[in-house]
Amino acid sequence: MRITPSLLAADFARLGEEARAAEAAGADWLHLDVMDGHFVPNISFGPAVLRALRPLVRMPFDVHLMIAPADPYLAAFAEAGADLISVHPEAGPHLHRSLQSIRALGCKAGVVLNPATPVSAAEEVLDLVDLVLVMSVNPGFGGQSFLRSQLGKIARLRRLIDETGRDIALQVDGGVTPDTAPDCIAAGADTLVAGTAVFGAADRAAAVRALRGEAA
Ligand code: DX5
Ligand code: ZN
Repeated sequence: MRITPSLLAADFARLGEEARAAEAAGADWLHLDVMDGHFVPNISFGPAVLRALRPLVRMPFDVHLMIAPADPYLAAFAEAGADLISVHPEAGPHLHRSLQSIRALGCKAGVVLNPATPVSAAEEVLDLVDLVLVMSVNPGFGGQSFLRSQLGKIARLRRLIDETGRDIALQVDGGVTPDTAPDCIAAGADTLVAGTAVFGAADRAAAVRALRGEAA
């Protein structure tokens, strides 16, 4: 089980310290939510923030792009230190080409499914992805409630991924807490994003352990 805390819920005045705290707490990756105020109704941060944080921690940077278009900015995120870049099919006309571009930049590639986006949007590109991300909230904001309607989608993707025989991470993002994590894991997720549940906790290490289902 991989835990990837979302920096969106961190103290933006102390991003470096917050990233280090997440790493010290046992996080596997750092989830970076990039928002443009156009694809989603919120604005967060861009490649300059990744570049500034990159020397401070060793965790892979798991970059979730909520921007449209995404293609013109892929190289900037790769150069700023992204290890994995995930894009939404709705962010551009050619998802397949976007995923090829991410891989050509030397990064791992992910496809993100909004709550209303069907499994089939990922099925046709499974040969090109290293990660499928199921949104369990509508993208744009942290701290929303987990949409249980997405559990069936996670289970269907688990089966499709297993059929490929490839190493593809199945990630869940939005409203993941120690209460909802067990359902995600039971449905087949192996990678959990958690913003509020980690950065909102006084003891981040205990929060990461709780998400993994380990006793405090
Ligand atoms: C929402 C983002 C999420 C968000 C999760 O658009 O993609 O990564 O930060 O935050 P929580 O865990 O608080 O729901
Ligand atoms: Zn995210």
